[in-house]
Amino acid sequence: MNEKILNQNDIINTEIIDSYDLDCVFSNNPINRVKIKPLPENKNEQLNKLKEKIQNIENCELKYNASKIVFGDGNIDSPIMIVGEGPGQKEDELGKPFVGEAGMLLNKMFKAININRKNIYITNVVNFRPPNNRKPEPSEITKYSNFLRNHISIIDPKILVLMGSTAMESLFGSKIKISKERGNWKEIIINNKTYLTIITFHPAYLLRQADQKKYSWKDLKIIRKKIDELGIKF
Ligand code: URA
Repeated sequence: MNEKILNQNDIINTEIIDSYDLDCVFSNNPINRVKIKPLPENKNEQLNKLKEKIQNIENCELKYNASKIVFGDGNIDSPIMIVGEGPGQKEDELGKPFVGEAGMLLNKMFKAININRKNIYITNVVNFRPPNNRKPEPSEITKYSNFLRNHISIIDPKILVLMGSTAMESLFGSKIKISKERGNWKEIIINNKTYLTIITFHPAYLLRQADQKKYSWKDLKIIRKKIDELGIKF
């Protein structure tokens, strides 16, 4: 009879198996030792999903009165993200933020600090035009604030610029005043990440109150200085 000669390892294994007092410890079933992790979604996929979620929002007067969703515009990999209030008539027609009169001023403001609009990313607090361009209600700001936080988290900018009191309220609440808070660097934590944030006047406000442009100019210079300090290149 051909007896198998046990080697050192077989002896050790046999002893271990015996010590468990089991009939069978081996199985021929293949073991999946390599867990294949799904690849993380890229920014475009995440943004499309978020857009779809907003598109499917329920019980929202803004959505029922608007003709199009206005989600975002610009470079999704930009280090600078701008948040406005909500779409106006032109934005509602074209489905793009800041394409009307306020948008033209916004473009000029950034041009003045050497930043081309196509190099930044722009969105709004609410993504559907409020009827008659009214300010979004506090309940609407709250309803959309998680979408906005998600949006910021996906874009993951180095600098977040909140334009106007609605953008400020959406992320910092309504207890603070824009006249006091504008021009100061703040931090906001979203999904465990801290974002460097600055509040400044909304271009539509500047179109109505030209005397406030001097403060806006100060804020823009503060933004430019920070961009240079951080070594941000476009
Ligand atoms: N005002 C905003 O806040 N957002 C726009 O997209 C246009 C005007």
